[in-house]
Amino acid sequence: MAGDPRPIGVFDSGMGGLTVLRALVARLPEEQFVYLGDTARLPYGTKSPDTVRAYALQATHLLLSEDVKMVVIACNTASAVALDALGEALAPVPVIGVIEPGARAGVAATRSKRIAVLATESTVKGAAYAQAIHRLMADAHVEQMACQVFVALAEEGWADTRATTAAVEDYLQPLFAQADAPDTLVLGCTHFPVLATAIQRHVGDAITLVDSAETTAAAVAETLAGLDLKASADSGTRAIRFFATDSPERFARIGAIFFGGAIDDEAVTLVDLKMA
Ligand code: DGL
Repeated sequence: MAGDPRPIGVFDSGMGGLTVLRALVARLPEEQFVYLGDTARLPYGTKSPDTVRAYALQATHLLLSEDVKMVVIACNTASAVALDALGEALAPVPVIGVIEPGARAGVAATRSKRIAVLATESTVKGAAYAQAIHRLMADAHVEQMACQVFVALAEEGWADTRATTAAVEDYLQPLFAQADAPDTLVLGCTHFPVLATAIQRHVGDAITLVDSAETTAAAVAETLAGLDLKASADSGTRAIRFFATDSPERFARIGAIFFGGAIDDEAVTLVDLKMA
């Protein structure tokens, strides 16, 4: 089989989706990637579903114009409110979101069937995680909590500062003050894995933290194989191209925290989605 050398498109409202890209890059060494962060319009997590859908459609059309063979919606908020619309609009290009894989990871981790989902306001309002978890585990007890300030802390690169510790305490104390506290926390937002150390310290080692990056990468690998879209092993040197809708310099600098490795700002192209 010659393999399909076209890149995989990855979309997020900003830099947080680089945590998902990182898992994809590790899992799929022969694939090429195009990543788009809509940094000019972040946060999506406080916006209405209609606005998020409109933004996500514009963004993913840019990825299509880069001839991607698949689109990964790394943004939890966009996955929660726009996945069906994107699937229809981008067909026949397959679209994969992060909610289902995140729910699967949470269900696999819990022993008490008590799961808390930390996410943005819009993701919580739409209850997509609770629905996905209940599809997999009907008797699960799911608590959802909007932790919007975590997004700003992560965007600032404040992975483990005093402000981060204080925000973690303020959000999570009520959840763990109650009887029957959850044993599993789903980090249902691209940005939250960056704060994992501060969160784990607060909740203690008995609580399992899960994020959807690994399970999403597994779902992408499965879909590529199922649709015969895998690149061949000799598809050449890895190339990752980045697009951002604001400040490529900041994208490269702060993005490195999420990606876990340096990003050359020369590899980041400024794009105006309204003009795309
Ligand atoms: N990417 C968003 C998410 O995963 C977080 C940042 C935002 O609010 O745009 O929900």
